[in-house]
Amino acid sequence: MCGIIGYLGYREAYPILINGLKKLEYRGYDSSGIAIFYKNGYSLCKTKGRVYELERKIYYDKVKISGTTGIGHTRWATHGVPNDINAHPHVSNSNDLIMIHNGIIENYHAIKIILSKNGFTFKSKTDTEVLINFIEFLRKENKFSLEEAVRISLNEIVGAYSIAVVDKYYPDKIIIAKLGSPLALGINEKEFFIASDPIPFVDYTNNALYLKDGEMAILKKGKELDLRKIVDNHKLHPIIKKLKINLKQIEKGKYKYFMLKEIHEQPKTILDTLRGRLLISECGMIYIDGIESNKDIFINAKCITIVACGTSWHASLIGEYLLEEFARIPVEVEYASEFRYRNPIIGKKNVIIVISQSGETADTLSALKLAKKKGAFVFGICNVVGSSIARIVDAGAYTHAGPEIGVASTKSFTAQITVLVLLALKIGKYRSTINDYRYKCLCQELRSIPEKIDHVLKTDNSIREISKIYHNVNNFLYLGRGINFPVALEGALKLKEISYIHAEGYPAAEMKHGPIALIDENMPVVIIAIKKGFYDKIVGNIQEIKARKGKVIAIVNEGDIQVSMLADHVIKIPYLSEELSPLVTVIPLQLLAYQIACIRGENVDQPRNLAKSVTVE
Ligand code: F6R
Repeated sequence: MCGIIGYLGYREAYPILINGLKKLEYRGYDSSGIAIFYKNGYSLCKTKGRVYELERKIYYDKVKISGTTGIGHTRWATHGVPNDINAHPHVSNSNDLIMIHNGIIENYHAIKIILSKNGFTFKSKTDTEVLINFIEFLRKENKFSLEEAVRISLNEIVGAYSIAVVDKYYPDKIIIAKLGSPLALGINEKEFFIASDPIPFVDYTNNALYLKDGEMAILKKGKELDLRKIVDNHKLHPIIKKLKINLKQIEKGKYKYFMLKEIHEQPKTILDTLRGRLLISECGMIYIDGIESNKDIFINAKCITIVACGTSWHASLIGEYLLEEFARIPVEVEYASEFRYRNPIIGKKNVIIVISQSGETADTLSALKLAKKKGAFVFGICNVVGSSIARIVDAGAYTHAGPEIGVASTKSFTAQITVLVLLALKIGKYRSTINDYRYKCLCQELRSIPEKIDHVLKTDNSIREISKIYHNVNNFLYLGRGINFPVALEGALKLKEISYIHAEGYPAAEMKHGPIALIDENMPVVIIAIKKGFYDKIVGNIQEIKARKGKVIAIVNEGDIQVSMLADHVIKIPYLSEELSPLVTVIPLQLLAYQIACIRGENVDQPRNLAKSVTVE
């Protein structure tokens, strides 16, 4: 996690750093800091808290902010609690070298012991302070240049990093390097922009280079980029890409929070995901390049394993249902963090699908590397174009949901499900495991989903009224069956993440095997009770809850009578087929979590302890 930023050029660095850090806060926001360089010196300011608190500190402490070279950092704590001392940038013992770092140095403790024996002392509890002093140690011991000391030190460490290092006596030079954590470089004729993703510099340039793992670059004012391999210092030819980012996508517009904007964007993002892929002709047609060109692999797949984390894992569970239903291939869904640490059996005809919004989640990335090492064919479903996962899968499909800034995933979830529906239908068609009529009906129905979501978004006011009643409770239960069980999990996760209310998702029928003991007049139970999908069984579950005085908030179809008579509150959604229903049933659950968090006065876009992109294990 953590966001890093840097500037080297002719403009004042400070506004670029501060505004850039604000755009990177989704990566972590427990502390932040900047260093601005001038001739033979620098000013450093860091603080616990968000970037606006850093700005305030800089203002009240009258920190010198003039200079055309600078680096900055917004942190999500790994080693050491969030406080001023552990915040980045970190400075070497001599005060000469200054560093920002995103990632984890796993063997930092061993290096720290060596450095301590050589007289080094440490102010913070961070692995980063160890690394910058290791660089200083190597430089002094061996009379290395800074670039050589950085390179040699990186060859000695185990872990993940994207770093930027500056020597205060050479403020016209920044050294950057990457392994495992993302690092983008914006390039103009006389300036360089460094950032964890390109959004902070798209205002200035659309020429970008994504450093690859194991690469470092020496940036010098007014000079051409010098790109090297960390392992052997081999000079590389930089491949500069043109960015295509629409700035409107990263502004809140009329919405109070990005999360609300992103919830409301879903009719459009689903259309974007379908664009060019769902072509309604006489018999309906789905075209996804990554599947088309690997048709035989999917036709002959004996088993599919889907690997992901968090919300993407919930989408994977929906994928399991869809792929087994339409393509009749056995599917397993795994948490990436579990998959990577056992010795999974991956046969020759085993397809692995990895799902990740950010494309940077460390556990998913490692699981993907493991699967590739074992010879599996890996298909990726990612949102962030050019992300690490997207770059190393064998084939894949982007979700095209646009930048998701709210830490709690919403539009990326429905975009992932949309890709999974297309994938399952397409493979089913190849394998003739779905009949033409059903295939065509589902293709047509997919088109109508955005309109149905639009309809549900209009129920926001009634969801707010329900939220007012329950915003003070301590626990929530979410129930669903079949393909809507993962939606219940997702609804519970959304509520936990942004309102800090404990919530559990359960398959409705499992309730009587334990959770029913929790039900009393204080327990709200959100239950997905749509007509298609075990309706009668769900009616029975609701009766069980009501018999124990639980409060029922039911998601029902328009025109529903039976559940509406039993439930305390109903949220109505249009009628739709069971297989596509998660695309719509999740919308009221997202809105409910959002409204409850707002009423409780929480910072919806930046919930405590979380970060958008989990680049640590
Ligand atoms: C929940 C959420 C997280 C992510 C998880 C995986 O709202 O956002 O649970 O889904 O960290 O992230 P990606 O999809 O980027 O791999």
